[in-house]
Amino acid sequence: MDYRRLGRSGLKVSELSFGSWITYGNQLDANAARECMAAAWDAGVNFFDNAQVYAAGKSEELMGEALKKLGWPRLKYVVSTKFFWGITDGPNERNTLNRKYLLDGIDGSLKRLQLDFVDIVYCHRPDPNTPLEETVWAMHDMIERGRALYWGTSEWSAAEIMGAWEVAERHHLRKPVVEQPEYNLFHRERVEKEYARLYDGIGIGLTTWSPLASGLLTGKYRDGIPPGSRGAMPRMQFLVKDLTDKAKNRAVAELDRVAKELGCTLAQLALAWCAKNPHVSTVITGASRPAQVKENMKAIEVLPKLTAPVMARIEAATAGVAQ
Ligand SMILES: NC(=O)c1ccc[n+]([C@@H]2O[C@H](COP(=O)([O-])OP(=O)(O)OC[C@H]3O[C@@H](n4cnc5c(N)ncnc54)[C@H](OP(=O)(O)O)[C@@H]3O)[C@@H](O)[C@H]2O)c1
Repeated sequence: MDYRRLGRSGLKVSELSFGSWITYGNQLDANAARECMAAAWDAGVNFFDNAQVYAAGKSEELMGEALKKLGWPRLKYVVSTKFFWGITDGPNERNTLNRKYLLDGIDGSLKRLQLDFVDIVYCHRPDPNTPLEETVWAMHDMIERGRALYWGTSEWSAAEIMGAWEVAERHHLRKPVVEQPEYNLFHRERVEKEYARLYDGIGIGLTTWSPLASGLLTGKYRDGIPPGSRGAMPRMQFLVKDLTDKAKNRAVAELDRVAKELGCTLAQLALAWCAKNPHVSTVITGASRPAQVKENMKAIEVLPKLTAPVMARIEAATAGVAQ
């Protein structure tokens, strides 16, 4: 496993990392969650992604328990959390990045994670109802108070990220160093076009999410929704249309042929493709069982096989279905 700088910051993260959305507290209990983290760690992963809203705080609790049991030295791993949607009801508790919510939220997350600080804290979505200056100052203060080391955004527009950076520059505050966008073979526009000026311009790194498009890029949805998959979960029905999209699954079949020729699985090919982009600091993987983690981590062995001709075939396979 190689380690890449988180944008222009000095923090190094493993090129593949592991996140807990949907799985922790829903599909994975404490033991299985810990086993998945251990499998990732054994493969060289040092970054574990979380969010306040995942399983309404339960995901942070499970990760906290796992970290305690695993007993790794704090210097050796990087943990993140994110804020926006909130987990309790009230005018300052939902869909906000105001100062009151953010500074209260981090304390709750640290308690659940059983940590003194998180390494990265994200503003999980933009908040049009809070002045950017207020949010940037709150993130700066979170860091100054020792609750977090770095901060960033998730699914903010390039203009919003630039705006936050400029506020921080103007007031000599801690700047955002990372954005967390969706990025996979079918979802590329923002990372490849909209953010293009942010990389060299202000040194933003990327920790990208849903590298397998929620499992579509494993090929498991080619004949419908298999039982026990994410697509079969009642609360994930909003994904079904996309997971069973005929054109995308035709592309998946062609990508599978490329993977077979390279001697890897489709999931490994799709993950390696994300990691191939030099602007990606880390590809955040997800898994509902340890065997998936083990398979997915081997994607790094596929990276050197992604030569120009192979990339051209991948490009051709996804032409017309990638956004
Ligand atoms: N910032 C944000 O807004 C945001 C949003 C979403 C995610 N994230 C982060 O990104 C992480 C990854 O996202 P994601 O979970 O959507 O990633 P993903 O790679 O697109 O999907 C992961 C899911 O695909 C299936 N899968 C994974 N490997 C497989 C394999 N080898 N064979 C068959 N099935 C496999 C599993 O689901 P089943 O086995 O249940 O089918 C697994 O839970 C999250 O945990 C979270 O940390 C961030």
